[in-house]
Amino acid sequence: MNNSGETIVVFGGTGQQGGSVARALRLDGWRVRALVRDTTSKKAKMLVAQGIETVQGDLADSSSIQAAMAGADGVFSVQPSSGQGAAYGVTDEDEVRYGKLVADIAVASGVHYFVYSSANAAGPTATGIGHFDSKSEIEAHIRRLSFSSTIIRPSAFMEILALPGMGLDRGEFSFLMKPDQAMQFIAVEDIGKIVASIFASPAKFRSRTFEIAGDVVTGNELAEKFTRASGRQITYHRFPDELLEQNPFLGGLAGLVDQGRLAGNADIAALRMEFPRLLTMDAWLEGAGRPALLAAIQTASSGVALR
Ligand SMILES: NC(=O)c1ccc[n+]([C@@H]2O[C@H](COP(=O)([O-])OP(=O)(O)OC[C@H]3O[C@@H](n4cnc5c(N)ncnc54)[C@H](OP(=O)(O)O)[C@@H]3O)[C@@H](O)[C@H]2O)c1
Repeated sequence: MNNSGETIVVFGGTGQQGGSVARALRLDGWRVRALVRDTTSKKAKMLVAQGIETVQGDLADSSSIQAAMAGADGVFSVQPSSGQGAAYGVTDEDEVRYGKLVADIAVASGVHYFVYSSANAAGPTATGIGHFDSKSEIEAHIRRLSFSSTIIRPSAFMEILALPGMGLDRGEFSFLMKPDQAMQFIAVEDIGKIVASIFASPAKFRSRTFEIAGDVVTGNELAEKFTRASGRQITYHRFPDELLEQNPFLGGLAGLVDQGRLAGNADIAALRMEFPRLLTMDAWLEGAGRPALLAAIQTASSGVALR
């Protein structure tokens, strides 16, 4: 594929989704420009080493966003998670403001195509979880604008399963679903592949909003897969009821899994036809997931690091 004349601006390029998208677009031959807060950071320099242009900017600084989009053909928009609230540095209100601002400036800049990454639990009714409802609000704003766009709603990332605090160091993995309850997941690497496919065939995806996932597994199945991949016996339990009662954030997420909303409703079979080679959980565990899993097993931890 040769898209060498056209430039896509990527937000969050030093992060998981933006990094995956920037790499995939670059591999497809696009010129990629990443707005980064610090062009001298190690992650920003790694982008440059991959042939990605970095420009200094901040989501709180509209003039830097305008400058990044000057002459651009497309935009990939993702906002940092507001899941940990103000303590993490990004409130739900910040996320909404940033998401709307990026879309508004894309329209004013005349970009030809816009892809926004939301989350699978977003939708027309409130979830009660700030960082999902923020995305529903940004989605609604984008749909009101006159430009060509696609909204993807990723399921939970496979990568979050290897975050500290979920008991892997004790061989007792805990997460949000019940042992026999299924939940959808996606490898972050596949978000890049999907977004690159959208930019390659924009007419096919214009005005679509859809959930994306690569696999669906129960808690017990996860334990089996983790046991096989690590060579260490791992059992599965849902987070204890007391924790879900004491921690309204985790309790809210578990409630959304029970409602099916966070468990995910992506049509994985159809996605596999449209985007070949999406990673299953097993394939992820044979690749990037295995070192992440082994590192999590080696890391003693107390609190759950989900956000
Ligand atoms: N985890 C999941 O399972 C899951 C599932 C679906 C959706 N999501 C959503 O995914 C989003 C996060 O994506 P991610 O995991 O790719 O993020 P991430 O890895 O945490 O990276 C965040 C990125 O945002 C940049 N950033 C932070 N503040 C900024 C600012 N003020 N101006 C410009 N850039 C800024 C960071 O740059 P620096 O290098 O400067 O820090 C970094 O590149 C969240 O909205 C989350 O709700 C997550």
